[in-house]
Amino acid sequence: SCPDRLFASEIQSKLQTKILGKRIYYFDVLPSTMDAAESLARQHAPEGTVVIAEAQTKGRGRRGRQWISPKYKGIYLSIILRPDTAPGASSLITILAAVAIYEAISGLTGLEIELKWPNDIMFQNKKLGGILIELNAEADVVHSVVVGCGINVNSDKNSLAPASGSLKECLKAPVDRVALLKEILRAIEKYYLLFQHGRSAQILQAWRGHSNTLGSRVKVSSLNQQIEGQAVDIDSDGALLIRQDSGVIRKIFSGDVLNCKPD
Ligand code: BTN
Repeated sequence: SCPDRLFASEIQSKLQTKILGKRIYYFDVLPSTMDAAESLARQHAPEGTVVIAEAQTKGRGRRGRQWISPKYKGIYLSIILRPDTAPGASSLITILAAVAIYEAISGLTGLEIELKWPNDIMFQNKKLGGILIELNAEADVVHSVVVGCGINVNSDKNSLAPASGSLKECLKAPVDRVALLKEILRAIEKYYLLFQHGRSAQILQAWRGHSNTLGSRVKVSSLNQQIEGQAVDIDSDGALLIRQDSGVIRKIFSGDVLNCKPD
């Protein structure tokens, strides 16, 4: 029997990618794979370099939140990309990673997950995973992007935050983390290449089809405001479009979405 460990040799065996995962740094424990990947990126690590940890002691999510990362139970992964784009296009990287993770999880497990704008992987209102993007950029040029993915794979309920769930809890069966991680790398590479080749419309179309945000009445809290209305679309740079009751369409670049219950 194989140990359920995300060793580089396990991941690279029959991995179907050209760029992602050619170089993998594997750790038993890290504070956060984001910091390790950022430091490798500054030392000119090539695009596609991957950092994996079996546990994180300071795993982080968006807006300074903690990402609970119990050992051997999840996928905690950071990928270094060097896209040929201006910093403004980086929200699309969150969208492409979400579409890729959707494809990997639903293809491997058949679970009918949904995507919540901008970065959440959901099943029946429980958060199963999230994406964190951190840029090293100047005003008009991106040096590197670190794409962090956290998935609650085989975590037990008692080790998770109340609004979170794991694939194992949803499926009532454990999931092969090695197979899932390989699928995530394959799918992120597929959608990243579409992005690099100017075919983002295809990514956005896939996201629209998997989203539980569009068509819902939502409340979005961003740094200094709360906006309520109907989520009508995402636009070409990944921003969320909300139609307020006044009819005005507002464009939201970042924030937390709360789906309001229908009246
Ligand atoms: C979020 O939903 O807010 C994003 C969560 C991202 C968590 C992952 S786990 C791997 C990588 N390392 C981190 O510290 N965070 C990301």
